[in-house]
Amino acid sequence: MGRIIGDGGWYFLIADMTTLPEHQRCGIGGAVLDSLLDDIRTRAPRGAYVSLTADPPGRRLYESRGFTDLGASADAMLLYT
Ligand SMILES: CC(C)(COP(=O)(O)OP(=O)(O)OC[C@H]1O[C@@H](n2cnc3c(N)ncnc32)[C@H](O)[C@@H]1OP(=O)(O)O)[C@@H](O)C(=O)NCCC(=O)NCCS
Repeated sequence: MGRIIGDGGWYFLIADMTTLPEHQRCGIGGAVLDSLLDDIRTRAPRGAYVSLTADPPGRRLYESRGFTDLGASADAMLLYT
């Protein structure tokens, strides 16, 4: 599974990327991610802002689709309410 949270126009967050353990490393996560990115490219103008938080298991997959680390230019911040 995986989903997009966004404003429908400019800002999109890829969230909840998960493949059942017994089906991992078969291309499912990549197919889900490609489908989500295709959907964003269809709906949003070129240059739309797509972000995600990469846990270690997903990092290589995201990098393979062009996501880059923000490095020292930004830190993720979180608030539980
Ligand atoms: C991250 C996650 C969603 C990836 O899902 P997935 O279905 O395993 O993803 P894919 O199969 O498309 O790709 C994973 C790896 O398998 C490889 N792969 C894809 N098809 C393959 C095949 N037929 N044979 C062998 N390897 C294959 C990919 O090249 C990739 O390798 P890499 O990590 O060395 O780059 C999955 O590992 C997961 O659910 N992890 C636990 C939950 C989690 O941490 N989610 C949050 C991530 S931010």
